Amino acid sequence: MASCISLSVGLLFLCMLAGIHGATVKIWGLHARGLVGDPTTHPDAYVKVSCGTISGGMTEFRRDEDDPSWRSQFTLEGVKAGTPLTLEVWDKDLNFDDHLGTCTIPLTYGTHTNKSCYVRTGGTLYYSYTYSY
Ligand SMILES: *[C@@H]1O[C@H](CO)[C@@H](O)[C@H](O)[C@H]1NC(C)=O
Repeated sequence: MASCISLSVGLLFLCMLAGIHGATVKIWGLHARGLVGDPTTHPDAYVKVSCGTISGGMTEFRRDEDDPSWRSQFTLEGVKAGTPLTLEVWDKDLNFDDHLGTCTIPLTYGTHTNKSCYVRTGGTLYYSYTYSY
């Protein structure tokens, strides 16, 4: 009984923290397989990272690479509960970059490694994240 009460007090405290300060989302391990850009060239791909209105910026470009891996890591703070993670995959071009696809990922508490999502024009994006209060 006592442990039940202290557990729910702990949960309430976590919920209050999340409500006031938002959550922290760390993203790393971004890589992709079989990306498809325009028909004649391999993509120069990069990924833009955001959670709702909080932008994490973007990865570096990987030139002429269908199976790129990015070193960039991201920490987004103050993310409101229920806000999904958005990963946009782009192909850098001289004038207008081509949008290859967007992954909209509902976040759950804890660490999740090497998850995947399909990229609209072809291929798969892999990512890892930690969601914490
Ligand atoms: C991630 O998962 C894919 C598909 O299962 C696998 O091919 C790849 O090697 C994994 N990458 C890492 C870094 O574990």
